[in-house]
Amino acid sequence: MDRFEAIYKRRSVRKYSEKKLSSTVLNEIEEKIKNIDKLYKNIDSKIVPAEDGETIQKTFSGLKSKIARVDAPHYLIGVSEEKAGYLENMGYMLEDAVLYLTEKDIGTCWLGSGIEHDQLKDLFDYEENTVILAAFGDSVPDKNNFRKDPGSASRKGLDDLIINNEDVPKKVKDIIDAARMAPSALNSQPWRFLYKDEVIHVYIEKKGMFKKLVRKVGDLEKLNHIDVGIALKHLEIGARHHSKKIKFIDRGRRRKGYEYITSAQLE
Ligand SMILES: Cc1cc2nc3c(=O)[nH]c(=O)nc-3n(C[C@H](O)[C@H](O)[C@H](O)COP(=O)(O)O)c2cc1C
Repeated sequence: MDRFEAIYKRRSVRKYSEKKLSSTVLNEIEEKIKNIDKLYKNIDSKIVPAEDGETIQKTFSGLKSKIARVDAPHYLIGVSEEKAGYLENMGYMLEDAVLYLTEKDIGTCWLGSGIEHDQLKDLFDYEENTVILAAFGDSVPDKNNFRKDPGSASRKGLDDLIINNEDVPKKVKDIIDAARMAPSALNSQPWRFLYKDEVIHVYIEKKGMFKKLVRKVGDLEKLNHIDVGIALKHLEIGARHHSKKIKFIDRGRRRKGYEYITSAQLE
């Protein structure tokens, strides 16, 4: 399986076998995450492996995590200083690791709720702040690590996501389709795209007052910025698959009703 196929086959695995992955595989993963690409090179950020998943499970607390906790043999911890763009940067970085694991037939699940940020910081001894977790390992035997039919994924259509859908060439739609498949907190799929002159401008859709409040309370506002970072990684992989390169540039393309994130120049 290559990186592009991984985008379509990945799904969230929430029930894991207790069996740990071999130390050879864990060492390979550790090497990979040491050299992961950043979206913004100026942000002090990294991925810390938690090979002993129980250490993480012991920190799960609160009602949210009782209902939705995901116990896995291993986790990745996304760690970063907090400055402009750090959430998008972390989404971009950790999704690279998640897709790498998918390529290796390993199950994964992003985890944004019930995280004890400070406790993890002490346990794993890093200076920066805990941003997000991803669980990984093999799924329980009767389940599968992958989605057999990509069409079964619950996702919005491109016509909902591309602001000027009717004016966009098929080749660009194929690239954006890779971003459409990205995982997002509560499957909220906050990304929107506007294409013009070989550039895909990327936005988050602004919500009405009520939805805005819900997003704030549930931390969804923050998580949605991580989601967009994930979609940017997918966009880049989609472009490469269709023989294009992408350069992310801040074009400051503000638009009413949307929050501007960045622009992807196709080359
Ligand atoms: C930033 C982020 C946070 C998430 N947090 C959780 C979580 O706390 N618990 C959980 O079970 N799934 C979590 N998910 C997984 C999403 O619910 C899942 O990706 C989405 O429903 C789409 O389903 P799929 O991953 O199977 O394609 C999270 C995903 C993202 C991207």
